[in-house]
Amino acid sequence: MKKRILSGAQPSGQLHIGNYFGMINRMISSQSNADLFCFVANYHSLTSISNKVKLEKNTKEAFVDLLALGIDPIKSTFWIQSHVPEVTELAWILSNFSSVGLMQRSTSYKDKISNGLKPNMGLFSYPILMASDILLFNSDIVPVGKDQKQHLEMTRDIAIKFNNIFGDIFTIPEIEIDDSNDIIVGIDDQKMSKSYNNTIPIFGDHDSINNQVMNIVTDSAGLNDIKDTNTPLFKIYSLFLDDKPKKELHERYNTPGLKYMEVKKELVDVIINYFAHQRKRRDELIANEDKVNDLMNLGKTKAQKIARETLSHVKQAVGLL
Ligand code: TRP
Repeated sequence: MKKRILSGAQPSGQLHIGNYFGMINRMISSQSNADLFCFVANYHSLTSISNKVKLEKNTKEAFVDLLALGIDPIKSTFWIQSHVPEVTELAWILSNFSSVGLMQRSTSYKDKISNGLKPNMGLFSYPILMASDILLFNSDIVPVGKDQKQHLEMTRDIAIKFNNIFGDIFTIPEIEIDDSNDIIVGIDDQKMSKSYNNTIPIFGDHDSINNQVMNIVTDSAGLNDIKDTNTPLFKIYSLFLDDKPKKELHERYNTPGLKYMEVKKELVDVIINYFAHQRKRRDELIANEDKVNDLMNLGKTKAQKIARETLSHVKQAVGLL
């Protein structure tokens, strides 16, 4: 049996190349040897977005963008989280097996509060909803970035506690943290993140990509100096290169005469070409709303079938008539 891999993506704005090289490309390639479950986590986004137009727009865009990038809605199960509301019912049940102390220790919650987010109950119980996403679909593996590791540990805690009381209901998911990749840096050499305003959008127009690339921070090395490769321009460019061209770029950095401006101009073209095929697919999807709606419905039907089965087992187990 193929392993079931589950992943959720919050629709928090334009997808950027940090999202792509951090997670999305792994999800896409996992489809050849695993059973991928992937959803747009719009219930989660409600903890931080309270604007109807923005939430709707972001959710649709995330769905279309992920399709365009290569999530296969036939092979995989790909849906909008709120189309399968069973997840909130399970979250309620699970919240009775989740200790308040455990939630209070969530570093992501503490970080968000210290960044100025108002601590509403949705934000507080975010990890329970996430546990519900994972457990509802009997996920074997959940690949996440380091920032989500603690959430996954909470999921395992909750599932183990529940199984201890009611028997083997939930699959205990394995956590898969990707250590192989260094963090993907943004144009200022910090981690690429929407909250730092240092991202390069995957599907931005030429001007916005050009603008961000031109703003990549460079040092003041002179024309005839050898250039430092441990810098954001080199690191970002490398994401798009296989070993051989990466070595060649390295050589150019080690040879006097390299002009950062030329490298930047090249990089703009490299980025646009790299996603050209996906961009075309995205344009086609945007022009065909019926098709997108059909694919949303397909995902909903597939996900709901499994969700209802699990939820029914759980309700029976705990004694909910
Ligand atoms: N919390 C995740 C993030 O912000 C998104 C998410 C929601 C998720 N539910 C999930 C990820 C379940 C993996 C599994 O990136």
